This record gives sequence, structure tokens and C-alpha cells, in this order.
Amino acid sequence: MRFAKSVQVGLLSAVAIGIVGLTVPVGAQTSDAASEGMALFEAQCSICHATAKNQPSMLAPNLFGVVGRKAGSAEGFAYSAALKDSSEVWSTETLNTFLTAPSTVIPGTRMTVAVPDDEHRAEIIAYLATLR
Ligand code: HEC
Repeated sequence: MRFAKSVQVGLLSAVAIGIVGLTVPVGAQTSDAASEGMALFEAQCSICHATAKNQPSMLAPNLFGVVGRKAGSAEGFAYSAALKDSSEVWSTETLNTFLTAPSTVIPGTRMTVAVPDDEHRAEIIAYLATLR
């Protein structure tokens, strides 16, 4: 089961970011949503996004404290005009809509990695909510 999930995550991330052979950290010792989400995040998002407090943004804005903050407001990151000028405030609901289809919600955003699977999206958002 755990193996099957890792393979699935590996395939998803390979498709999402075009890197084959990325190792998937299986850090989920417990089965709660946030730990599942952390493993998914590490596989699909962490190549671009930092998450630790005060860590500089990398290819993408640092997501520490993302739930509750205005879109396009991480210190020191050069956002697209689309995201910067958006009036979106990130909550579990707005993140859910955004991550289903980022460019549909905010046309022109450079964030193009969608999470179409409802369960995976919920787990990733549960993990994002712990980043505070
Ligand atoms: C290929 C690099 C890349 C990957 C992989 C990636 N992102 Fe992003 N993400 C970006 C970029 C670049 C932006 C800023 C977009 C802009 O300025 O329009 C962004 C923006 C965001 C934002 C808005 C942040 C803010 O400060 O307003 C969220 C939330 C987000 N990404 C979540 C995710 C999640 C969750 C994943 C994994 C499923 C992910 N991203 C994977 C590049 C990436």
C-alpha cells in the first residue's frame, strides 16, 4: 500500500515537473492528512518552494505562513503581475480552488503545477496549514 502510493506519487511528480527518477521521501510515519501531505509536497512542490521560516524564496515564494496571507506577498519574491495584483487571500478554501487549476483561477500566474486529485490536494493543504 505504502509502496503503491510512493510509486503513484513518483509518477505524478515526474509528470508534473518532468523529472524522472526523483526519489520520494516516505516520511509519513503516521497516517494523518498533514503527514501524507508533507510527503506529497516534498515530491511535487519542494523542488521550487521553501517552507521554513525566514528561508529565502527559491524558484518560487516561500510558503511559510501561506494560509492567511494575501496572494503574492512573500517578502523578496518577484511575483508575476497576475499574482501580485490579485486580491486573493489564501485560506484552505481559496487554496483548494487555486491548486485545482492555478491558471484558471489566476490567469497569467507562473504557478502552473495543479493537484487534480481531491484527496491529495486536501492532504497538501492540511500540510500547508501546519507551516506557521
Ligand atoms: C516549477 C516550480 C514550482 C513547483 C513545482 C510548484 N510551484 Fe507553486 N509557485 C511557483 C511559482 C513560480 C509561483 C509564483 C507564481 C507567480 O508569481 O505568478 C508559485 C506560487 C504558488 C502559490 C502562491 C503563493 C503566494 O505567495 O501567493 C502557492 C500556494 C503554491 N505555489 C503552491 C504550490 C504547491 C502546493 C505545489 C505542489 C503541488 C507547487 N506550488 C509547486 C512555482 C512552483
